[in-house]
Amino acid sequence: MPDQIDYDAKIPNNVNLSEDRRLQRALEGWQPKFLNWWGEMGPTLATHGVYLRTAVSVGREGWAHFDHVEVPDYRWGVFLAERDPDRVIAFGEHRGEPVWQQVPGEYRADLQRLIVIQGDTEPASVEQQRLLGLTAPSLYDLRNLFQVNVEEGRHLWAMVYLLHAYFGREGREEAEALLYRNSGSPDAPRILGAFNEETADWLAFFMFTYFTDRDGKYQLGTLKESAFDPLSRTCEFMLKEEAHHMFVGTTGVDRVVLRSAELIREHDTMDIGAYGGIPLEVVQRYLNFHYTVSLDLFGSETSTNAANYFTAGLKGRWSETRRKDDHRLTDDSGELERPRDDGTWTRDEVQKILLLNLDLRGEYIADCESGVKRWNRILEEAEISFRFALPHPGFNRKVGINSGHHITPDGTIVDAATWRAGVKNWLPTSEDLTFVRSLMHPVYERGKIASWVAPPRQGINGKPFDYEYVYL
Ligand SMILES: [Fe+2]
Ligand SMILES: [Fe+2]
Repeated sequence: MPDQIDYDAKIPNNVNLSEDRRLQRALEGWQPKFLNWWGEMGPTLATHGVYLRTAVSVGREGWAHFDHVEVPDYRWGVFLAERDPDRVIAFGEHRGEPVWQQVPGEYRADLQRLIVIQGDTEPASVEQQRLLGLTAPSLYDLRNLFQVNVEEGRHLWAMVYLLHAYFGREGREEAEALLYRNSGSPDAPRILGAFNEETADWLAFFMFTYFTDRDGKYQLGTLKESAFDPLSRTCEFMLKEEAHHMFVGTTGVDRVVLRSAELIREHDTMDIGAYGGIPLEVVQRYLNFHYTVSLDLFGSETSTNAANYFTAGLKGRWSETRRKDDHRLTDDSGELERPRDDGTWTRDEVQKILLLNLDLRGEYIADCESGVKRWNRILEEAEISFRFALPHPGFNRKVGINSGHHITPDGTIVDAATWRAGVKNWLPTSEDLTFVRSLMHPVYERGKIASWVAPPRQGINGKPFDYEYVYL
């Protein structure tokens, strides 16, 4: 398996595509459909070159090359992490056996389903973000948006490659359907709820890349453990790209908070809307929304599907190989906190293998806490007493044991009337959305930035902030 990528091919790849004519032809048949989709559903802002990174190697060092490229000419390709010839299955009933290079017949349907669900999220986010270029706060941010978009497009390629290479005619049909469904479409929506929500403004984009791309990180982390080795290697390389998306979210929210803090200090009021800043309580409501729709992506707290996937070796836990247990979980149990109809919480003891979604969600929540800590540190340094917090995991949930209950951000179970009276303080109101949208004016001048966000501390790839990241 070559580490270097064949860039002369129509579809750049490191999977020896030229040696499998049938597969090559099938993917070359899908390519114009992808480009068509990109033209219709991808970024609406036309540019004359964006300073983008393109993968040139999957090795540990120097895997990306940076240059200005015309976005529609971006070389979307198929890149898998290097194969470890000694890799064995790390968990489940096949633990210790060699990993699979082909799909076992008995797991075909389940594996295909997992790949389709992951694949569906990738183009969805491009669709959700397609208008954002029109209101970018700086050329630096515009460049980052396009970088995220082209890589989500590549992640779609990554999943489509697996469908074409390993799942025959059904796989090819699923690959078509990935372009047919669209975010928010009434007839053919994307599979998961969070990917049908609008990403209407840049605060939503930063929250999305912080919270929802981070969900992606954890999902990919479980698929990276898969006994199906091509899936594992695909996800490993995707995780490398994904890190930048979360960087965009983390530093994006940092910069919003920093700017708001500056304006609060400067004008000695929390009410900074009139000065072109986003009030901290609006930021908190955005956080509440994006965090909770992302929690829904982890599925039900108890899941026999997830247990079956684990036992079969299809999907592991986060950091599976570093866990110190038997990696089979047949005898262990864990605790599940559940709301009761009388308004109290109760704890049930449940077989651990049924709590795998909850386990992954727990890892995710701990990671999200680190963002809240950084944003609070910015406020602390500015001597502002406001503090951000993650809401209780039962708050605003549409999926799992908390859905159907009204739970406040502090975890109190309330009745419908109390919920209705409080919700304007907890989730973005239509006034919040209109206000944030009113701040969204494009700033396309080199080195300039919009009123509501601070410039980044550093540029991309050692370039300064005032570099011409995008030719317009
Ligand atoms: Fe992705
Ligand atoms: Fe991403």
